[in-house]
Amino acid sequence: MTVIEANGARIPAIGLGTMTLKEQVCIDAVKTALKLGYRHLDTAERYGNEEWVGEGLHQGLAETGLKREDVFVTTKVYWDKLAPGDFEQSVEDSLKKLKLPWVDLLLIHWNNPKVPLSDSIKSLCSAKKNGQAKHVGVANFTTAMLDEAAKLATEPLVTNQIEVHPFLDQTKVVAACKKHGMSITAYCPIARGKVPGNETLERIAKAHDKSASQVALRYLVQQGIVPIPRTATPAHLAANLAVFDFALTEAEMAEIAKLAKPDGRVVNPAHSPKWDA
Ligand SMILES: NC(=O)c1ccc[n+]([C@@H]2O[C@H](COP(=O)([O-])OP(=O)(O)OC[C@H]3O[C@@H](n4cnc5c(N)ncnc54)[C@H](OP(=O)(O)O)[C@@H]3O)[C@@H](O)[C@H]2O)c1
Repeated sequence: MTVIEANGARIPAIGLGTMTLKEQVCIDAVKTALKLGYRHLDTAERYGNEEWVGEGLHQGLAETGLKREDVFVTTKVYWDKLAPGDFEQSVEDSLKKLKLPWVDLLLIHWNNPKVPLSDSIKSLCSAKKNGQAKHVGVANFTTAMLDEAAKLATEPLVTNQIEVHPFLDQTKVVAACKKHGMSITAYCPIARGKVPGNETLERIAKAHDKSASQVALRYLVQQGIVPIPRTATPAHLAANLAVFDFALTEAEMAEIAKLAKPDGRVVNPAHSPKWDA
């Protein structure tokens, strides 16, 4: 699979999102994904599914003959576990559940204004130094937080995992990631199901003999953004990988960008930061 290089990391250009996937459904989705060619899995302590993502990974490696190093595994430390001590415990718990000595990427899963970034970034970088994570990064960081985090980090930050899809304008934070040499990982790339049925995306899809979801994913991939769509449906798992055999025209890219709306954000919990306008 194509890889995106950022601050020393080589990140497979599409990953499997696993939020909400549990038990056998999760194990089967991960195994099917690996067999189809996925090389990037996204989980988090918060999703309560690391045990099954790990099981799917280990079974998938055994059944495909892939090596652990062939698959890029991301997990995250949730914002309520960022304080010194809690952070380290969360990482240990994640590795235990995943049955892995290290993950490829460890992220701060939302900032917590009550824990200074100097503490959380220090814990994050320590996890890389002590071998628990090959790379480190952040999620849901704004431009201001990225500037502060980049100054504090003693290890390179390789990604900012944020919501990106055609209905949300993330130009400012995307530019800030690029300024810091970081990749952008796109969560909710299918806008949690709002992409299928969109008139513009459906029309463009028809012209390429693809689906609206594939067009939304291609829109991101073509910008060097790494989408992590979530599905356990085998046909969707396969479809979401089949976005490297066509290209959107400049006019189509511009038309899709115009679908962004001020209220286009899907994920906006109470603990969200003040987003970049
Ligand atoms: N860092 C963060 O704060 C954060 C926040 C949210 C999410 N995430 C990560 O990002 C991942 C993706 O985001 P998400 O799960 O919220 O939303 P998403 O991937 O945009 O949407 C998932 C929905 O899209 C549907 N879908 C997937 N592929 C499809 C296809 N080819 N055709 C039609 N429908 C399709 C799925 O339905 P089917 O199951 O029927 O296919 C599912 O209902 C998460 O799983 C998680 O790993 C991170």
